[in-house]
Amino acid sequence: MTKHRDSDTSKPSQVFGFAEYGSDRVAQFFTVSSPHPDADQVLVDMTASGVNPADIKVRNGERQGSVPVEFPMAMGREAAGVVLAVGDNVSHVAPGDRVFGAAAAGTGTFAERVLLSSSSTAHIPDGVSDAQAASIPVSIGTAYDALDELELPAGSTLLVLGAGGGVGTAACGLAALRDVRTIGVASNEKKELVEKLRATHIEKGDGWIERVRELAPEGVDAIIDAVGGETLREASTLLKAPGAIRSAADHQIAADLGGSAVQRRRTTPIFAEIAELINRGSFSPVISASVDLAHAAKAVAVVESGHAVGNVVITRGE
Ligand SMILES: NC(=O)c1ccc[n+]([C@@H]2O[C@H](COP(=O)([O-])OP(=O)(O)OC[C@H]3O[C@@H](n4cnc5c(N)ncnc54)[C@H](OP(=O)(O)O)[C@@H]3O)[C@@H](O)[C@H]2O)c1
Repeated sequence: MTKHRDSDTSKPSQVFGFAEYGSDRVAQFFTVSSPHPDADQVLVDMTASGVNPADIKVRNGERQGSVPVEFPMAMGREAAGVVLAVGDNVSHVAPGDRVFGAAAAGTGTFAERVLLSSSSTAHIPDGVSDAQAASIPVSIGTAYDALDELELPAGSTLLVLGAGGGVGTAACGLAALRDVRTIGVASNEKKELVEKLRATHIEKGDGWIERVRELAPEGVDAIIDAVGGETLREASTLLKAPGAIRSAADHQIAADLGGSAVQRRRTTPIFAEIAELINRGSFSPVISASVDLAHAAKAVAVVESGHAVGNVVITRGE
């Protein structure tokens, strides 16, 4: 028997999503019946949901085979909200709790009512906003996992490619906590932001590699990559020793270069650890835009431009 809070669980839910794969033109609002949590799922009244490049790849059909989709499918892979109901196997959160987590398989989060996978659902500490919590599972979690995998000692040098975006800003901010010297490659518009995150900014574009060489003639110890392609290939020539690459953006090239994709840990304890860093004031997510669910298309367009600053969040009821 599902444990639930009130009649909210039977209301229809507005979702922003797609009923066929395609460009931004296939994305629209649908009214669906409120989802019901399976044994290992948590139903929440969504208050905030992060927007990420992955949402666009799923909508375009680029993730078929790895991300299950059931039409009409809401976009979005992460959310915060208030628990409405939990499945039979869920005991660590209860109706009424403020929580966040990753979307349950086959579901999305740009919706009034959202299903989270219980194994990733964590409480939101009092000092953390819903928008901050909703930005943890995808981009911030990726940066956190990459840094844990690299195990860089204090004083080592990290190169972050795409330092002004969701993964990159989190990588810079979290690396600073480890006393790692960070060099962040980003467009010039993001210079101030990157420096605020205690990284040295290098302007992307022609000559960027020479600019890094000048700054770190001895080379860099590791790379966190949120860009991929030729940029990653070029960057690898800066490594003191090959292989210390963790990529969010280009698994194939990272592997070719002896590195790897970031191995994601979408679990309650890891997400709770990150939320606690924010709660203590040790780390602050960069949220450049909060857009009401009614204007979800605008938020998606910002991320789809490829030039988003930090995290973009869709919100409700603020
Ligand atoms: N595996 C996972 O769990 C996971 C999780 C999160 C993200 N990802 C992937 O990682 C990638 C990045 O995600 P994100 O959330 O950080 O995206 P994002 O917020 O859009 O940021 C990407 C950033 O890269 C910058 N950029 C583009 N070309 C660049 C270049 N040549 N040099 C330096 N910077 C450049 C862009 O800004 P400017 O060009 O304006 O400077 C933008 O700020 C995406 O492919 C995403 O799908 C994977």
